[in-house]
Amino acid sequence: MAQRLLIMGPQGVGKGTQAALLAKHYGIPTISTGDIFRYNLKNGTPLGKQAQAYIDKGELVPDELTNSIVQDRLGMDDVQEGWILDGYPRSASQVEALDAMLKELKTPLTAVVALDADRAVLMERMKKRAQIEGRADDTPEAIAKRLDIYAKETEPLLDIYAQRGMLISIDGVGEVETISQHIIDQLDKRS
Ligand SMILES: Nc1ncnc2c1ncn2[C@@H]1O[C@H](COP(=O)(O)OP(=O)(O)OP(=O)(O)O)[C@@H](O)[C@H]1O
Ligand SMILES: [Mg+2]
Repeated sequence: MAQRLLIMGPQGVGKGTQAALLAKHYGIPTISTGDIFRYNLKNGTPLGKQAQAYIDKGELVPDELTNSIVQDRLGMDDVQEGWILDGYPRSASQVEALDAMLKELKTPLTAVVALDADRAVLMERMKKRAQIEGRADDTPEAIAKRLDIYAKETEPLLDIYAQRGMLISIDGVGEVETISQHIIDQLDKRS
């Protein structure tokens, strides 16, 4: 069965890592808005230039810009057999925008995977990641800002998907492979 998944959860919980394993397992691409923005920053594209100030501060890039990159990506050929969205939607208005896109494409979501971990664990992981990857937005200030915005704007979205019967909640603490297996077990149970 084709999987069209959201992977949600706070910064540093392992969305990117788990998305990559799921993508491999199901043979579908991951669409990470953060990765798309970082690619455009690195290459100094007009999109990168528009997004830079927001990203550096740890703020959300304006919806118009973000929605349009997702819409473009969902129109490409390689996503016809399914996809995983990582880092989107992050606000109520992005949920609305995504609903409209998927309705238009006639490709409903199949499930929403929510990962969670304590704030102390998240802070520790991001500190490590900052040393390894040197992401410009992994400064203590930008990290704190992103976690606050997550709690305020993104976490409440989980209720929306729970009400729709779409939500799979998974503990994000443990071995990477174990977590991945938990997700796959739950997804396969649904289909
Ligand atoms: N859906 C979105 N809406 C608005 N801005 C976004 C969105 N996705 C990414 N961004 C911008 O790109 C930045 C990096 O996103 P990304 O998801 O990689 O980082 P993150 O929030 O630290 O999560 P993670 O720790 O999982 O990588 C965000 O801080 C934000 O400025
Ligand atoms: Mg990520």
